[in-house]
Amino acid sequence: MDQVRKAVIPVAGLGTRFLPATKSVPKEMLPVVDRPAIDYVVREAAAAGLRDVLFIAGRGKTAIEDYFDRNAELEQVLRDKGDEERLSLIDDVTQLAQIHSIRQGAALGLGHAVGMAEDHVGNEPFAVLLGDDLIDRHDPVLQKMIEIRAKFGGSVIGLMEVPPETISLYGAAAIRTTDENDVVEITDLIEKPPADEAPSNLAIIGRYVLDPAIFSVLHDTTPGRGGEIQLTDALRTLVSAPKTSGGGVHGVVFRGNRYDTGDKQSYLRATVALAMQDPELGPDFSSWLSSMMSERRPGD
Ligand code: G1P
Repeated sequence: MDQVRKAVIPVAGLGTRFLPATKSVPKEMLPVVDRPAIDYVVREAAAAGLRDVLFIAGRGKTAIEDYFDRNAELEQVLRDKGDEERLSLIDDVTQLAQIHSIRQGAALGLGHAVGMAEDHVGNEPFAVLLGDDLIDRHDPVLQKMIEIRAKFGGSVIGLMEVPPETISLYGAAAIRTTDENDVVEITDLIEKPPADEAPSNLAIIGRYVLDPAIFSVLHDTTPGRGGEIQLTDALRTLVSAPKTSGGGVHGVVFRGNRYDTGDKQSYLRATVALAMQDPELGPDFSSWLSSMMSERRPGD
């Protein structure tokens, strides 16, 4: 089985950057316009053909599973009112994918979270999507990554050029170019390096297509940066592993819009950008926004 069919979405993070809102609401459930952030991520997986989604969750995250489940009471209320439009809105969410969920227990890092998917995924390639990364649906990078996995085997990571001074927030890649535009071969990976030690300004965004060989590597990966088991470190091992045992890592350079919905500034940008694109809200919202900007005086 070499087709990528399953998506793993780690959602165990506490969302401390968004307190107090995330004290009782999972950060993945904060709305971006009219959908929770996690809806966009699951929709992206489904659009790439991944209809089997496994959440690696933690305490206090049941609202995420509930969101993708049916709500018979609400359906009945809408049906009684004859509100077909809203009925189809909530029905659509439940049809996106088959949802599974397991608990991470101890938060030992992203590598540990992904390792927990082993029994569910089995011996087939799979995708990992980080719930904080919202990728504009007009730029289907995951689809391209799946194609690159089919072409080269091994694993594929999503990369993005970032301002060099911000590379210490990400996993950073050393690369060799290939014949194909925006497809690179990874030669090394470092998790959150200081800017002056980074091999490039190519940052890992939260999209991965992984060879199942990652699981055995994760078993042997010791805690790295921040004392956590890092997925980046396990991928680094696969960079130099032979192709016959699932080694080799490629990167697809993404040039579209990506937002970190766990970061206030980026979350606001995502909300504004998506509201402006919305066919119903967009025109009025955009003209309100531009008039507000032109009224604003320095120092306001
Ligand atoms: C994780 C990864 C990092 C990657 C980032 C992308 O870090 O460990 O390599 O660049 O996601 O969002 P986190 O942001 O969870 O600390």
